[in-house]
Formats: sequence, C-alpha cells, structure tokens
Amino acid sequence: MAGLKHAIDFLLLLALTTSPTANAGDPDIISDFIPPAGNASAVDGSYFTYTGFRQVISPEGAPSTFTVVKATRMEFPALKDQSVSLATLLFPAGAVNPPHTQPRSAELLFLVMGTLQVGFVNSTNRLYTQTLQPGDLFVFPKGLVHYQFATGPEPAVAIFALGSSSAGMVSIPNSVFGSGIDDVVLAKSFKTDVATIQKVKAGLAVRA
Ligand SMILES: *[C@@H]1O[C@H](CO)[C@@H](O)[C@H](O)[C@H]1NC(C)=O
Ligand SMILES: *[C@@H]1O[C@H](CO)[C@@H](O)[C@H](O)[C@H]1NC(C)=O
Repeated sequence: MAGLKHAIDFLLLLALTTSPTANAGDPDIISDFIPPAGNASAVDGSYFTYTGFRQVISPEGAPSTFTVVKATRMEFPALKDQSVSLATLLFPAGAVNPPHTQPRSAELLFLVMGTLQVGFVNSTNRLYTQTLQPGDLFVFPKGLVHYQFATGPEPAVAIFALGSSSAGMVSIPNSVFGSGIDDVVLAKSFKTDVATIQKVKAGLAVRA
C-alpha cells in the first residue's frame, strides 16, 4: 500500500511539474541564440541591437496618450528564447495602464520620472498597492492582475523587464468586455443588466 501511495504521489508531482502552467516560460535552447530564419550567415552585431527605444529618449517630450514601447521577440527577434524582454511605459499626467496580466512572467518595474501608483491583486483578491518615486523598483508577481496610475502632476516614465521573450499581455477590460462574450453571460456574472454591460462595452470601443 505504501508503494502505491508513493507511486501516486510521484505521478501527482510529475503532473504538477510538467503542466503547461508550471512550464510556460521560454524553452531552453541548445544553441547560443536563434538566428533569423533562412540566412544565419547574415547575423552580425546589428541583429543583437534594438533601436526602437530611441524615440523614448528623444527631446520631443511626453506623448499625449498612454504609450507602451516594447522590445519582445516580436519587435526584436534576437530575444527569441532568451527569457528576457523590456518595455517602456510613457504616461501623460493622470493616465492609467488598465488592469492586466502577463501570464508567462513576473514584471520588474523601474520608475524613471514622475509619480506612479501601482498595485496588484493576489489570487485570493488581496490588493497590494504602493506609490513610487523615481528610482524605485516594484515587482509584480507572475500572472497576477496589476495596474499603474500616473497620479501627477507630472508625466511619468517607467521601464520594465520581463523574464520571458514573450510574456503575453491580457487586458482585463478588453478580454472581458471586448472579446465577444455574450452580454447575458456578462450581465449575470457582474450581477447587473444587459444595458449596463452594453454601456461599458460602448465606452471601451470609444477609448480603443
Ligand atoms: C545572406 O546574408 C549575407 C550577408 O548579408 C549575403 O551576402 C548573402 O547573399 C545572403 N544569402 C541569402 C541566401 O540571402
Ligand atoms: C493573498 O494575501 C492574503 C493576505 O496577505 C493571504 O492571506 C493569502 O493567503 C494570499 N493568497 C495567496 C494565494 O497567496
């Protein structure tokens, strides 16, 4: 009997450690890096260089709407399977980065300028919030719902690093109200009526 119990424990452990959620980061690769498809001999230093952030430090000033500039494996293919990526968040004063999750990575945020109120919610709905000053780091644990709010009066600029070249981004407003889930399902889920759900959807469509 003890043998059978050990076997079941082992199988459970195996299922946990090999489940897609436990293993959802970048895969280990057995080459130094992933060259571009088709012409590996064309790789030189410029393949490992990303210039998309030059706009962020240009003297043009802050953008008028909340802007995210990313360097993930999509924008910067040399990152493929290197388990790292970076993004810049540019907030006009008063702007919000709405609640969202990165399903495949924690997020480590560094505030460069401005004042940023940040928060995340753990998986049993406890809110952890903080107001950051320039120079502060804040970590959003992997997969949890989080947001940022530039409380002003200045614009805010933050940089964040992710432990995946493709961390993913699930926007809570868009995934719940912008994905075609039936109004009746949403009305019942939010304990409200269809008209209220349609009002929320209309507001999101205007903003997008
Ligand atoms: C691959 O890239 C090298 C260097 O840029 C170039 O000389 C060569 O013609 C390319 N080969 C193909 C098949 O595109
Ligand atoms: C969330 O935080 C609360 C308060 O600290 C804690 O009691 C609870 O266990 C946490 N939930 C998880 C899943 O860690």
